[in-house]
Amino acid sequence: MKLNVGRRHDAPLAIEPMTQSDVPAVMHIEREAFPTQWPADAFYNELNTNKLAHYFVGRMEAEIVAYGGIWAILEDAHITTIAVAELHRGRGYGEAMLLRLVDEAITQGASWMTLEVRESNTVAQGLYRKYGFTTVTSRKGYYSDNDESALIMWAGNLKSELYRRRIAALREAGCGR
Ligand SMILES: CC(C)(COP(=O)(O)OP(=O)(O)OC[C@H]1O[C@@H](n2cnc3c(N)ncnc32)[C@H](O)[C@@H]1OP(=O)(O)O)[C@@H](O)C(=O)NCCC(=O)NCCS
Repeated sequence: MKLNVGRRHDAPLAIEPMTQSDVPAVMHIEREAFPTQWPADAFYNELNTNKLAHYFVGRMEAEIVAYGGIWAILEDAHITTIAVAELHRGRGYGEAMLLRLVDEAITQGASWMTLEVRESNTVAQGLYRKYGFTTVTSRKGYYSDNDESALIMWAGNLKSELYRRRIAALREAGCGR
């Protein structure tokens, strides 16, 4: 399998659990990344009250350039959000964050992962497909801002030898570092 590692970043992203003090920087990225934003309170609630939630930020030196999160519910891990600051896209940071979310899902005991993505968001779909996600169905008019449909994507079995090998091959090729 030929892997595209041509747009990698120079230094690895330092990925750590998101804390309350990260939320203002996360909101800055959120505003440039999504047409309809989560309010800051949604992030505070996730961090403070949602026991199923696992959120991370990625730093280049001191600057937060990426974030992402999952809900882990028994065998199912749902990607709730993932974004990279506009200036830093196309350097492998989204991939590094997705890989961290996949690792966390496996650590939390999940066997599969799900997510929703806008039909028009081919960049994100390409990233998800690289990590074994396939489209299983769509939800018509899911996004209320423009009535756009959502594709529901799914990856599994995360615990299988086949998936482990796929992730190992990507890591070996330098992806998500
Ligand atoms: C989706 C997003 C997180 C990807 O992050 P990124 O750091 O730009 O992506 P990466 O550099 O890690 O690239 C990973 C893969 O994404 C896809 N991709 C990234 N940029 C792309 C582009 N300009 N055109 C097509 N595909 C692209 C490719 O599949 C790429 O793999 P490759 O390098 O092997 O080709 C980022 O574009 C983003 O924040 N978008 C706005 C928020 C968003 O749409 N989030 C997803 C909601 S479902």
